[in-house]
Amino acid sequence: MAYYLFRSLALLLFWAAPAVVESTNNVKQIAVIGAGAAGSSAAYHLRRFANESNIIINVTVFEKTSRIGGRTLTVNVYDDPIEPIELGASIFVDVNYILSNATRDFKLTVVDPGAEEGGLLGIWDGESFVYTQDSNSWDWVNLVRLFWKYGTAPYYTHKLVQGTVATFLKLYKEPFFPFRSLSTRAFQLDLVKITGMTGRQFLAANNLDGPFSHDIVQASTRVNYASNLEFIHGLGAMVAMAPEGAKAIEGGNWQIFANMVKASGADVHLNSPVTGISLNADQKYTITTAQELGHGEPKEAKPYPVAFDDVIIATPFQFANISTDKNLIQHPIDVIPYATLHVTLFASPYKFSPAFFNLPPASDVPVSILTTLGADEEAQPGKSGAGKAGFYSVTLQRIVMNPRTHNPEYVYKIFSPEAVTPDFLSGLLGVEVPESFTREEDSAADDSVVNPVSWFHTTLFHPYPQKYPRVTFQDPILGDGLYYTSGIESFISTMETSALMGMNVARLIIDDYAGVTRVEDEEVASMPAMPKYVDDEQDVLAQQQQKTAEQYGRPIEDINEL
Ligand SMILES: *[C@@H]1O[C@H](CO)[C@@H](O)[C@H](O)[C@H]1NC(C)=O
Ligand SMILES: *[C@@H]1O[C@H](CO)[C@@H](O)[C@H](O)[C@H]1NC(C)=O
Ligand SMILES: *[C@@H]1O[C@H](CO)[C@@H](O)[C@H](O)[C@H]1NC(C)=O
Ligand SMILES: *[C@@H]1O[C@H](CO)[C@@H](O)[C@H](O)[C@H]1NC(C)=O
Repeated sequence: MAYYLFRSLALLLFWAAPAVVESTNNVKQIAVIGAGAAGSSAAYHLRRFANESNIIINVTVFEKTSRIGGRTLTVNVYDDPIEPIELGASIFVDVNYILSNATRDFKLTVVDPGAEEGGLLGIWDGESFVYTQDSNSWDWVNLVRLFWKYGTAPYYTHKLVQGTVATFLKLYKEPFFPFRSLSTRAFQLDLVKITGMTGRQFLAANNLDGPFSHDIVQASTRVNYASNLEFIHGLGAMVAMAPEGAKAIEGGNWQIFANMVKASGADVHLNSPVTGISLNADQKYTITTAQELGHGEPKEAKPYPVAFDDVIIATPFQFANISTDKNLIQHPIDVIPYATLHVTLFASPYKFSPAFFNLPPASDVPVSILTTLGADEEAQPGKSGAGKAGFYSVTLQRIVMNPRTHNPEYVYKIFSPEAVTPDFLSGLLGVEVPESFTREEDSAADDSVVNPVSWFHTTLFHPYPQKYPRVTFQDPILGDGLYYTSGIESFISTMETSALMGMNVARLIIDDYAGVTRVEDEEVASMPAMPKYVDDEQDVLAQQQQKTAEQYGRPIEDINEL
């Protein structure tokens, strides 16, 4: 009885005067808003850096959805949890050091996406296939094969990509890491020269504006960033061409971020949209958050009872609907145009119809189809950018067993600017797809009925900004103790780069607590920048011919006859 009374009293007191946790001790309170790649990485690296510097921190993560991972998410084929498939960010690569290290440190299992399926990969321009090759991996840029059609352009492009990636990787290490201004670093590393022009202009500046760029590089910018070469900056085009060592986490890449958050030891609040940030009289931040009750009804937004020393906004601000006190954000956050992408996943026993691709009946149609513009087609921005092809890509993801028919089926993914229609799928598969995509339940009960589409899932989202040329980027510091990670997305938008910005902000915060000062910007400015890309053409030709000859086991003269 006494105990009960005491508890009620305590509860009463709590509601009457919310006990705000003030860091009068030396515990630093940090709020992270958003548990996607950037927020998870920020929480994790805050913990790591604080550990190293013996700083005591307490991290609180607010996430508006019910899960960790943000745009990195899976859905389940046939709604069966044993068949998860990536909806958003499907791969990462070897040079993604943060994701690769996390994969190792959390002992996650890596798979080579698309490795087992085989079949042809083709690039379709809306009328014909401009290029096809055997595809057995996402690591599809097969230099030897490409040499046949495009000569040395693939080699030089590859070098250009490697040079650009090497420059970008300087952002991971002192003196370029950490950075208070991304614009300054982009300038110091000469990367603004690449972000300041279109992919097409950058390739042209390197004498690479021929058919290889039009067909292959553009297919990459379309599948990765829903953009033609004229409407993406040079850096975006280079990143789209850097798929070496493509990998994915078995069961879903989101697990990297879930593990990061767990290892951070943060207090995590899911279903907790942040609605406001304000500064209190002690110059600490108050976060207002509404917790959803699960019936779609948001709870009334209330101030969270912790006064925060630092706040990291780790979600695109323009979609977050967070109100802030006037003057809180000293460097206003730009609204940037995001791409609108329809992602359609579906399972079908059918391969693609030769007729749809203007091929003779019974032709071997590629199972993974990327697209480019027609030869005389003018590039358009945004939604019209898909052009005659009408979609950016249709790719075989996996072969799975249909649990009802026990027959193997293909799982495909479509990226398109408009919603996929049953008509489109009927043409693509060469079989009538019903209005509802999948058939009604009663026929589903009959095992002998073959559904052209046995399962489908469609989502509309804003996966990344439209990367138009630009030379300044939203910096990570918005005000004293207030940080923002999404500015990096118009520079490069990948899981890794968002994680890099999270790590960067974590470093800045812990440096401030620890009183660490780093190399001044003037010194950094005098460091060497971009490497020279193009070396002697004759050497390259000779090397490439040598490689080709080795691959085919015969002298180059014979090969040229093929
Ligand atoms: C931080 O230090 C604690 C205590 O030594 C340790 O258990 C934890 O794994 C460390 N966390 C990270 C992310 O390094
Ligand atoms: C850490 O933060 C949590 C949740 O935000 C809070 O409940 C707790 O009191 C804080 N702990 C310390 C030691 O400040
Ligand atoms: C990844 O791990 C390696 C080896 O432990 C380390 O040298 C490197 O700094 C790590 N990189 C990042 C970005 O964490
Ligand atoms: C944005 O927040 C305000 C106040 O919290 C709310 O009234 C409004 O409905 C929200 N808008 C959206 C689009 O969520």
